[in-house]
Amino acid sequence: MRLVALGGDITRQDVDAIVNAANERLLGGSGVDGAIHRAAGPRLLEACRAIPEVAPGVRCPTGEARITPGFDLPARHVIHTVGPVYDRHPDPDGALRSAFVQSAKLAIDEGLRTVAFPAISCGVYGFPVDRAAGIAAEVFLDAPLALDEVRFVLFDGATLGVFQAAFGA
Ligand code: APR
Repeated sequence: MRLVALGGDITRQDVDAIVNAANERLLGGSGVDGAIHRAAGPRLLEACRAIPEVAPGVRCPTGEARITPGFDLPARHVIHTVGPVYDRHPDPDGALRSAFVQSAKLAIDEGLRTVAFPAISCGVYGFPVDRAAGIAAEVFLDAPLALDEVRFVLFDGATLGVFQAAFGA
């Protein structure tokens, strides 16, 4: 399995699935969530709304993942995951690790081969980028996962540099 870190816009990635840094309501938001919904079109929101709530207002608990089609995106699917709010979660490292692992597991279960991740929780949710990159490296570097490629698509140069360093690029 190839693990790569590259600069760019995740909504432009031609992969089997892009991962969305969503919230537990799964009804869109700002940041990468907003960008993915804008690029995928209104059918994505309809698909998210159809995902059953597991608790009042919660379609995807923190650390879990759900999958929908990609609709107008180049990517065939969107895997929605919810990372931890760094200064509010009792175990932010564990929750971020779970978001990475559960998203990859869902992709593998669906027979997908290429998956693109953003820097989950590193924006509004305030997770330190270097710690997030280290967790991503722990999960995906030299991991014998049944995927051809895991691609981290970073939106700014500073974040790209931190992930490239963590991946030993
Ligand atoms: N492509 C790739 N990465 C992007 C893009 C994009 N088009 N847009 C933003 N990013 C990057 C941000 O720069 C940041 O590094 O995604 C990373 C995650 O930031 P957020 O989108 O703020 O996600 P997160 O920190 O997980 O917060 C999630 O924000 O948008 C709401 O509904 C969402 O409530 C949820 C919360």
